[in-house]
Amino acid sequence: MLQGKTVLVTGSSRGIGAVIARLAKRYGAEVILHGRLESKELTALAKELDAPFVTFDVSDDEAVRWEMSKLGKIDVLVNNAGINPSKTFQNLTNNDWKEIFGINFFGAVNVSRVVLEGMTRRKNGAIINIASIKGFPYVAGKPAYAASKAALIQFTARMAEEFAPQGIRINAVAPGFTETELTTGTLRQEEAQGKTVLCDQIAKIPMKRMANPQEIAEVVLFLASDKASYINGQCLAVDGGLSIV
Ligand SMILES: NC(=O)c1ccc[n+]([C@@H]2O[C@H](COP(=O)([O-])OP(=O)(O)OC[C@H]3O[C@@H](n4cnc5c(N)ncnc54)[C@H](OP(=O)(O)O)[C@@H]3O)[C@@H](O)[C@H]2O)c1
Repeated sequence: MLQGKTVLVTGSSRGIGAVIARLAKRYGAEVILHGRLESKELTALAKELDAPFVTFDVSDDEAVRWEMSKLGKIDVLVNNAGINPSKTFQNLTNNDWKEIFGINFFGAVNVSRVVLEGMTRRKNGAIINIASIKGFPYVAGKPAYAASKAALIQFTARMAEEFAPQGIRINAVAPGFTETELTTGTLRQEEAQGKTVLCDQIAKIPMKRMANPQEIAEVVLFLASDKASYINGQCLAVDGGLSIV
């Protein structure tokens, strides 16, 4: 499905990004991995996939430009790197807002800016932004995280409009609750404290379970592939139906 394409997945040292990278490799792509730091997880995955990796903080536009200048052609960019703090408005400092937007929103802007230079020259490319159903106005909780993902969804549509004439498609995927170390760790912590917050949220999902990260990755790579050649500017929810109830 992705034979001959080079795919850069930001935040692929672990979680959903690592699963997207593994699946992209299985679909025939050359994969470039990325993490904030040269962590054990990142180097282990690079060895497993026999893939190169880059490290930079996505919120640092100069570091992004410098490190990305060392890379060759990129056909597909998956803007996946993100953080997910669960603070209420009253607990959010100005620095929290700057950090969350800096990574979740400006991170995608920074990496896209560099990648789009090559894509526009070649008149070909696909970008997939990993948003969240929290970015939809009718899904509750996490004001700063939700606002950063809402901005990413609108960014996706407007960039898709601007770059479509140059042969570039830009879409987003909005995962619901997905089984990663983060969510399973929260579940374990809550169990130990006798809390049921995440369990109660899972009970609200029509399909009554979290997503397997593979189920998110399949949709991301479908959008990256030529099979989705007429899908542009969309944000596809992959959430077991949570956002429709
Ligand atoms: N898990 C869910 O239920 C869920 C639901 C909806 C949406 N999402 C979205 O899906 C994406 C991946 O989530 P996940 O659960 O897989 O997260 P995760 O396991 O915490 O992994 C996050 C990845 O992003 C990287 N990263 C974080 N901050 C960075 C920065 N400043 N610069 C560069 N890289 C950075 C991390 O790199 P290091 O290892 O180097 O720190 C890591 O590779 C995120 O955008 C998240 O908002 C997740």
